[in-house]
Amino acid sequence: MAAEKDSAIRLTGRESGRDVELPVLRASEGPDTLDIGNLPKALGLFTFDPGFVSTASCESRITYIDGKKGLLRYRGYPIEQLAEHSHFTESAYLLYYGELPTPSQLEGFNRRLAEHAAIDRGMMVRLQSAFRPGAHPMAMLMAALSHVSSLYHEEKDVYDAGYRETAFLRLLAKMPTIAAWIFRHRFGEEPAEPDASLPYTRSFLHMMFAGDGAEISDVAVRAMDLILLLHADHEQNASTSAVRVIGSTETSPYAALAGGIASLWGPAHGGANEAVLNMLEKIVSSGESIEHYIARAKDRKDHFRLMGFGHRVYKNYDPRAKIMREVCYELLDGLDAAHSDRPMLDTAMQLEKIALEDNYFISRKLYPNVDFYSGIILSAMKLPRDTFTVIFALARTAGWLSHWNEMMSEGHARIYRPRQLYTGSVRRDYPVD
Ligand code: SDX
Repeated sequence: MAAEKDSAIRLTGRESGRDVELPVLRASEGPDTLDIGNLPKALGLFTFDPGFVSTASCESRITYIDGKKGLLRYRGYPIEQLAEHSHFTESAYLLYYGELPTPSQLEGFNRRLAEHAAIDRGMMVRLQSAFRPGAHPMAMLMAALSHVSSLYHEEKDVYDAGYRETAFLRLLAKMPTIAAWIFRHRFGEEPAEPDASLPYTRSFLHMMFAGDGAEISDVAVRAMDLILLLHADHEQNASTSAVRVIGSTETSPYAALAGGIASLWGPAHGGANEAVLNMLEKIVSSGESIEHYIARAKDRKDHFRLMGFGHRVYKNYDPRAKIMREVCYELLDGLDAAHSDRPMLDTAMQLEKIALEDNYFISRKLYPNVDFYSGIILSAMKLPRDTFTVIFALARTAGWLSHWNEMMSEGHARIYRPRQLYTGSVRRDYPVD
């Protein structure tokens, strides 16, 4: 029988001699947590944890990650099984409602998504005209969400479950349409209309590529759907935490999503997939060897890092990267040698091989992460590099809204308001003559 876990921890102040008992909150999986709520009152102390590396910001039942074992589960289902047997909209349903849908529930869910997919054409034309041709798609995506938040502001009732569900359906339905508008903006064109007769992911690719007269292959639909499913949620990552922080003020979920998009854009987070391709292009065009860049990545004084490697939580292979790696190799095998990105993609495979054998990366448990392979796959699918994170944001909309709904459904949301370790000037008087 395992030793009975502590139900509380007693702390005693060395100088004050005062002590306090802190309850241990039990997890169903992973680390239990120490409830430090009465620490300030009992001992006059805050805890100090920059970047919240060791802090549980909330209780959640949505996604479980084990960084050491490389585990990822949506509502208890292993990501490997969902990747093999499920698809994006079914997994989005699972994340939000907590259970896999019955066939009729799934059919109704997909129908409601199709009903909400349209976006006001005039709005998108005006929005696009506000952005110069080379504007970054993530800037346009944030602006589109800000506009959408204005459309539904009057009805905002964040404590009503029906309002929250409608916001979830609208956003999950409209993100592909907005993404397609942003994608076609690049070519000075409008996307095809959403096609309710097509499944969600195929309709998304249809909006993006129908204008090229391109046949959308089943392989491309499966690869895109897998990317969306694997990126749908990932516990309390930076952008999901941002959505929770913003949503805790009772603001609109549409506005909270714009904040999540802003956080995801960063190259240390969801912007890494674009940064991977920029890094590969830099390596290929520089004429320098891969070893030269590996040495730079290992040099603490050099800001250069291997984009697509390492993870705050996974100190084992990111389970999503393992799944994507197979798709990546399949796509690359099918890629003709003349593909413009071939040199970069070959460089990526060499980089992966070297990093996996180099002690610097092995000792720090720096493995390729989800962004390393998603960048390569999206590039092989001929998406412009700066649209990669838009795809990530589309997928993560399922997770962001599921976490927001979980937080708001707990009754009166507790506003996120961390404290600090103040080390600035103590009181001093303004110099008066
Ligand atoms: C995502 O949180 C999530 O769940 C995010 C995400 C999600 O689904 O939401 O999984 C998506 O954001 C994946 C990560 C994408 N980012 C990148 O690929 C950017 C490159 N990676 C790094 O910037 C970095 O690895 C982070 C930001 C991802 C993690 O940063 P940490 O936690 O600060 O890194 P660490 O503490 O694990 O670093 C330990 C050591 C340090 O060196 P030493 O001080 O020990 O000498 O490893 C080094 C770091 O300098 N290091 C790297 C490196 N990442 C860490 N060295 C070279 N290249 C890298 N990529």
